[in-house]
Amino acid sequence: MQRAIIKNFMKAVVITQAGPPEVLQIQDRPIPAISPNDVLIKVYASGVNRPDIAQRKGVYPAPAGVPANVPGLEIAGVIDQCGEDVVRWKKGDAVCALVAGGGYAEYVVANAAHCLPVPKAWSFADACSLPETIFTVWHNVFQRGRLTAGETFLVHGGSSGIGITAIQLAKAFGAKVFATAGTDDKCKACISLGADICVNYKKDDFEQVLKNYGVDVVLDMVGGDYIPKNIRLLKTEGRLVFINAMKGGESAFKVSDIMHKRLTITGSTLRNREPAFKAQLTAEVEKYVWPLVEGEKFRAVVYKQFPLEDAAAAHILMESSEHIGKIVLVNK
Ligand SMILES: NC(=O)c1ccc[n+]([C@@H]2O[C@H](COP(=O)([O-])OP(=O)(O)OC[C@H]3O[C@@H](n4cnc5c(N)ncnc54)[C@H](OP(=O)(O)O)[C@@H]3O)[C@@H](O)[C@H]2O)c1
Repeated sequence: MQRAIIKNFMKAVVITQAGPPEVLQIQDRPIPAISPNDVLIKVYASGVNRPDIAQRKGVYPAPAGVPANVPGLEIAGVIDQCGEDVVRWKKGDAVCALVAGGGYAEYVVANAAHCLPVPKAWSFADACSLPETIFTVWHNVFQRGRLTAGETFLVHGGSSGIGITAIQLAKAFGAKVFATAGTDDKCKACISLGADICVNYKKDDFEQVLKNYGVDVVLDMVGGDYIPKNIRLLKTEGRLVFINAMKGGESAFKVSDIMHKRLTITGSTLRNREPAFKAQLTAEVEKYVWPLVEGEKFRAVVYKQFPLEDAAAAHILMESSEHIGKIVLVNK
């Protein structure tokens, strides 16, 4: 009797209250139940993303239907159970998946249409670092931003999980790539991933460095005083895409610049999008990006792995912004 009860429980990292990294605690949680279109995945590794920090601080709540207090937006592992309507996957398949929460745990439920096969010869730690950033970059840079070969592309936070993904994909699809980052070592990493120019924004003004080139698409997570600079840098018909505004969401800029250059300003958040949208995005990523991943034209950049139990230390590292690339949690 006792054994049966224990078997239905798993370890999960729980946000015990809004606050600093120490509020993340390992607790026993029931293994979640699946719906007909879901799979239950035994998680071997989960990616840490900046939105997890915002969730922990209480400013980015989980959408309805997702474990409210267990962070984690991307995982890699092995399918343990399939819902009755799932045809593509079977128990034992190695997958990585986009989830809207609950990834910092031993098991997670994912929509079967939001899973992709773990690329051949990739570790779970590398594979878990792909979904959140690739899906975000694909949607914002290529679908919303409409970046095409021969155009110029600027990503701020070039050494972030999003940045290392955006640089590699923009380069692979034929763009000239500019990035900004906060140290010379980060800039070197951006160049090694394919950036043509990386501006250390703590030493140089990126607008001054890049103004003679002009930019077709900007992916911005910084906001604040970057907003008017981005707008001034954009070429005619340029696109400015926001995925965050870490320096603040309000800024003054000239509307006449937008009119005269016919600019498009847009942005999005991935987590709260409807399952059908995410399924379509998964299919597009599998068609256009997975061949690059499988063909070694895109690589994972995992800066550090932590045991699941040390999620608080992983958050401390992310908030220090010392990392280059991704931080992941691994389960034994
Ligand atoms: N909208 C969406 O759907 C979506 C999805 C995923 C992520 N995001 C956002 O995308 C961003 C990157 O996420 P991530 O998980 O890749 O995070 P991450 O690896 O922690 O990267 C964040 C980077 O931002 C830079 N940064 C931090 N504060 C800054 C500031 N005040 N000014 C300039 N740069 C600053 C840091 O690099 P430096 O040392 O170079 O400053 C840091 O490496 C986050 O803002 C996140 O919220 C949005």
